[in-house]
Amino acid sequence: MGAMPEEIEGLVDLMANVTEVNIGMRTYYSGTLNGNKVVVVFSRWGKVAAATTVTTLVLHFGITELLFTGVAGAVDAGLNIGDVVVAQRLVQHDMDARPLLPRFEVPLLQKTYFETDEALRARAVKAVEYLVESRHLHQLTENRFLQKFGIEKPAVYTGDIASGDHFFSNAAAKHRLVEMLPHTLCVEMEGAAVAQVCYEYRIPFVVIRTISDTADEHSPLDFPLFVRHIASRYSVAVVKAMVS
Ligand code: ADE
Repeated sequence: MGAMPEEIEGLVDLMANVTEVNIGMRTYYSGTLNGNKVVVVFSRWGKVAAATTVTTLVLHFGITELLFTGVAGAVDAGLNIGDVVVAQRLVQHDMDARPLLPRFEVPLLQKTYFETDEALRARAVKAVEYLVESRHLHQLTENRFLQKFGIEKPAVYTGDIASGDHFFSNAAAKHRLVEMLPHTLCVEMEGAAVAQVCYEYRIPFVVIRTISDTADEHSPLDFPLFVRHIASRYSVAVVKAMVS
């Protein structure tokens, strides 16, 4: 599952025996990738959209594991545009059922953080490291795009991702988040919702995000250009390397 339509197109191009099914305003592509049975779909944006899409993958398509890719805004100051974050844990930063429950705790689950699958996480880190070391990621796009976004050698990080129905575009909001959730590496709008559904249905999953911006007003980013020429190509290469 991907949070960018461009990465879905790129993956479908690599699949064999593709069939399409439309359910609930989403197109699910089934087929094989490197000989493995896969279903590929655009999550759409936000927690509800992503949770609904995962539920269909589980109940209609019977998936047994899930890889979720997309972009994220950097919260940790050490991250650079083009770096890749493999989630260790995901938290819903807009969940707040106080005074009934502690802030961020998901009702009825007694959980604040959802952990990704250890084996999938290791496979994702290995795949990204290999693609960086072999300079494969550099070959996926033109130098002028790498230069435009200041990408030299992407780094891979493992850690916490915070998700919620909010696009971070100012530093004050970002700093408020860091005060509350200091271990957060990056923010996005779907991962922790996907994580909750996978937890409830016991589906091993991992979330892999390319840093697209600094989650504040200083981000000089041409978002569509970054997605088309960098992030979606990274995602396709990483998933292809993981599904082999
Ligand atoms: N996904 C990519 N960048 C983001 C941001 N700044 N806030 C939330 N989700 C994002």
